[in-house]
Amino acid sequence: MSGDKMSSCPRAISVLGLGKLGAPIAACFAHKGYRVIGIDNNLDTVRLINEGRAPLYEPRLEELIAANRERLIATENCEEAILESDITFIVVPTPSDKDGGFSLHHVLLACKRLGKVLRDKQYHLVVLTSTVLPGATENEVRPILEAHSQKRSGSGFGLCYSPEFVALGSVIHNLLKPDFILIGESDPKAGERLASFYRTVCDNEAPIARMNSINAEITKLAVNTFVTTKITFANMLARVCERMAGADADVVTAALGLDARIGGRYLKGAIGYGGPCFPRDNLAFSFLAQQLGARADLAEATHHANREEVHRLASLVRSKNAKDGIVGILGLAYKPDTDVVEESQGLLLAQVLTAAGIPVVAYDPAAMNNARHRLNGSLRFADSLETCVKEADVLVITTPWEAFRHLEPALLRRPGLPRVVIDCWRILDLEIVGSVVDYIALGVGAQFHEAKHLPIGSENVGASASTSPSTLR
Ligand SMILES: NC(=O)c1ccc[n+]([C@@H]2O[C@H](COP(=O)([O-])OP(=O)(O)OC[C@H]3O[C@@H](n4cnc5c(N)ncnc54)[C@H](O)[C@@H]3O)[C@@H](O)[C@H]2O)c1
Repeated sequence: MSGDKMSSCPRAISVLGLGKLGAPIAACFAHKGYRVIGIDNNLDTVRLINEGRAPLYEPRLEELIAANRERLIATENCEEAILESDITFIVVPTPSDKDGGFSLHHVLLACKRLGKVLRDKQYHLVVLTSTVLPGATENEVRPILEAHSQKRSGSGFGLCYSPEFVALGSVIHNLLKPDFILIGESDPKAGERLASFYRTVCDNEAPIARMNSINAEITKLAVNTFVTTKITFANMLARVCERMAGADADVVTAALGLDARIGGRYLKGAIGYGGPCFPRDNLAFSFLAQQLGARADLAEATHHANREEVHRLASLVRSKNAKDGIVGILGLAYKPDTDVVEESQGLLLAQVLTAAGIPVVAYDPAAMNNARHRLNGSLRFADSLETCVKEADVLVITTPWEAFRHLEPALLRRPGLPRVVIDCWRILDLEIVGSVVDYIALGVGAQFHEAKHLPIGSENVGASASTSPSTLR
């Protein structure tokens, strides 16, 4: 960063909460030349960052932390970090409540500590990045900050709600090159300061949408609710295509995505969505609507359709699995390039199948440890991709990891009855694997499929590989 830019910028930035989102945020700010003080109450996280290591799995995170050690430090001492910085980003968890809302427990605790420090400090900008329900910034966060700082938002300190739109596995890229920046501001000075700061951080000229916090909070939930609806639409389309000879979901969505009103991203018909944000943001939107006496039929239908996906897949698997056959699941992370397994289809499928007494062996390049904690001994974890494939009678590819795209026919082939491969994302090539396995590509109609592979139990899901390019989720 140039000396000019730095002189109009904050002395230091503190990032409170160094998890899946906060650690990459801190690393990106340091990468852009800022002095960053990360705060976390997890001492392992603090130690790892101070050793120049990533506290969690995320591509490029360790590289950025290691390269910026002189600018990025971590501490559990919230007070000191805030005193030394001019902006604080709050990125602590906001776990979902049973009713679909978000708990503000960690946010409000952090704000109490933050507020007390602001008492003895000149103007400080507080940026809430954690996902909250609409109304939370103005009605809950601001009063706590004002009470503990004995200052007014707008004069004594600035307050913005500014969530990030990132996908795990590409968080650094998404932070440095966002589609847009969303700022909910309690006053114009706070919004302007944050906007100027973001301009120095982003590698692109991302448009900045500035508004009051309530609109920003609604926008955050609306973006994810819209994307889940789009994914569910593509899945619905795939379910229709796979029942029609000659139909191919990838061909249809590739054309559909050319329409500027629709666009091709997140339009890949495959299996249900998962992860730490999509399912819960969609539910929170429905909860919000209910609270307000409005209807969220579309969001609710999306949620229910998504829930059904794993059961549909499980019945297809069962219809293809002989008695005592072993099901191999390739992919436990909810998407490639992450180790997060929350609501992943691979994990859910393993749960449904093992609950029905079906033996399951699973493999994931990154998410085995996290899956072990969740699945608690109910299935076997293969120590390699090769072992998982060899042991499986029915192999299901649930996560489109790059490593799975290059499965060798020699590995897939076995003596006797061909192994069944259910390719949920159509990442294999029928031309290459079709002669050695009973290949089922979800979303593709039956006509390419050899008669011996049809019909597929009660599901009647036809199969063929499609190599047509399509935008992955
Ligand atoms: N992960 C994502 O992709 C993503 C995307 C968009 C929004 N968000 C939102 O960002 C927020 C954080 O999500 P995350 O995935 O990074 O969570 P996370 O659980 O991965 O990390 C949270 C971190 O905060 C720390 N922490 C909790 N309370 C603290 C406190 N009082 N003081 C200091 N540290 C504290 C934890 O030790 C942990 O390291 C959530 O509201 C989430 O919805 C996350």
